[in-house]
Amino acid sequence: VETTAYDQVRYPGKFYPQSSADRLATLGRLCGLQTTLPANCRLLELGCGDGGNLIPQALAFSQSHFVGVDLAASAVEEGRRTIAALGIENIQLHVADIATFDPGPEPFDYIAAHGVLSWVPVEVRQALMALCGRCLAPQGVAYVSYSALPGGYLRNVPRDLMRFHTRAITDPQLRPRAAREAVDFMLSAVPGNAFTRELIEREMAGFEGKDYFLLHDLLADENEPIYFLDFVDAAGEHGLQFLAEAEFGAMSTAAFPPPVQRQLDALANRLEREQYIDFLRLCRFRQTLLCRKGPAVDLTVTVERMAGLQFSTRARPVRPDADANATGPLDFRHPYQGAFRADEPATKALALVLARGDRRGMDFATLEAGVAQALQQPGAHDGAMRAALVPALLSLYARDLVEVHAARWDFSTTVSVRPCTSPYVRWLAERGAPVVNAVHGTFFLPSALLRRLVLLLDGTRSADDLLDALAAATPPAEQEGLTAEALQRRLQLLADNALLVG
Ligand SMILES: C[S@@+](CC[C@H](N)C(=O)[O-])C[C@H]1O[C@@H](n2cnc3c(N)ncnc32)[C@H](O)[C@@H]1O
Repeated sequence: VETTAYDQVRYPGKFYPQSSADRLATLGRLCGLQTTLPANCRLLELGCGDGGNLIPQALAFSQSHFVGVDLAASAVEEGRRTIAALGIENIQLHVADIATFDPGPEPFDYIAAHGVLSWVPVEVRQALMALCGRCLAPQGVAYVSYSALPGGYLRNVPRDLMRFHTRAITDPQLRPRAAREAVDFMLSAVPGNAFTRELIEREMAGFEGKDYFLLHDLLADENEPIYFLDFVDAAGEHGLQFLAEAEFGAMSTAAFPPPVQRQLDALANRLEREQYIDFLRLCRFRQTLLCRKGPAVDLTVTVERMAGLQFSTRARPVRPDADANATGPLDFRHPYQGAFRADEPATKALALVLARGDRRGMDFATLEAGVAQALQQPGAHDGAMRAALVPALLSLYARDLVEVHAARWDFSTTVSVRPCTSPYVRWLAERGAPVVNAVHGTFFLPSALLRRLVLLLDGTRSADDLLDALAAATPPAEQEGLTAEALQRRLQLLADNALLVG
């Protein structure tokens, strides 16, 4: 087996909710497809690396089947070791070239290729699209991310400089450092407020402290940005059409000034609308979902399309006694998105019902009944309120204030007597890696203490046992924070972030 650049410098696997079966199923349903639920699906990942994105899904959905393929044998070998250590039986990882890989005749409900298309030679790019076209199930969804234009033009400024400066360096371990020196040299040549400085700093921000990323992305021989419409044309040659962007909010025009929003939303052709949005935002990266050509798909979300989906929020009303019927707006706070204000009755009621409901999600019928009750209008779901509910929900979803899932998640929202994290979370924590929570999100353990705590959460220890064990494992200088209250706060933090499973 040949050694690739990814064998020489490893690209650690991560968790990408945007390419997960859950997200693809959700967006597919919102766009009118009858997607297969994640609990019972087949998913193929192209360029899966060490299987980092597949493993948590395989653990969450034991009845589903996951197949990964990657050219880098060392990454696949590592993934296989992890899979064996965790006793996972529903993943297969193959060392193979996307250009020649044959996954067999059985179609896949979901196909994901994250960070691959723009970074492989043209023949592999074509093969990747052809594979999606060949293997996608009739109601299936494919996820392909790629470097986009026109933002890619801006990215080429530091890229070309760094590639020029490192053209004689063959050792991949040495190139990122030399490349950064070139960027520093350029920055030292321009005044503080120069356009050039802003451009370079913006483009380099995502590569801070990540040499492997710089090497395999900006410094790579292949890094071919493409316009959205050209991507859609290429997909079209393989019987595929545009479904949606994987981040629902990426399709929203709400952040533009109202006249711009009206002009964009008036465009009948949704492909052209997307392309204009890319020009206006100088888009440099897309995460596009494709489905089979057939009946036109659209984002005119109806109540019927909500069937099978689960809704939840992490937002909380600022006032615990908030009432949806009170006049005036209601203020909410979301742990990651910050403060937001709900003005419309439907939005106020919706956010309140979700905030007071089960964090793991509720179905649309329950939500609707809750909203009717909150508004003290038992029949509200028959009329205008029902019509207002869907756009209100989607507007919150587009701003990441509400979560929409096709999967039914299983985790504890409270701290039990003997709290427990999943074996995989403990496995990751032991290796010093970021952990994955029960909804396929990444959680960076903020301290060594919390990491030690996670390692102890195997469901055998009470709070007292945990305090004793933590005290034994913590250096004297750090013992101060080891109180029963602080422990409960830490455990609740883990529960709030969907990291406790018992
Ligand atoms: C930038 S990494 C992305 C890895 C992973 N999808 C992620 O986003 O974390 C690109 C991956 O594609 C793989 N790759 C590149 N060319 C390939 C090919 N022709 N066939 C299969 N895999 C390939 C690389 O080995 C590498 O693991």
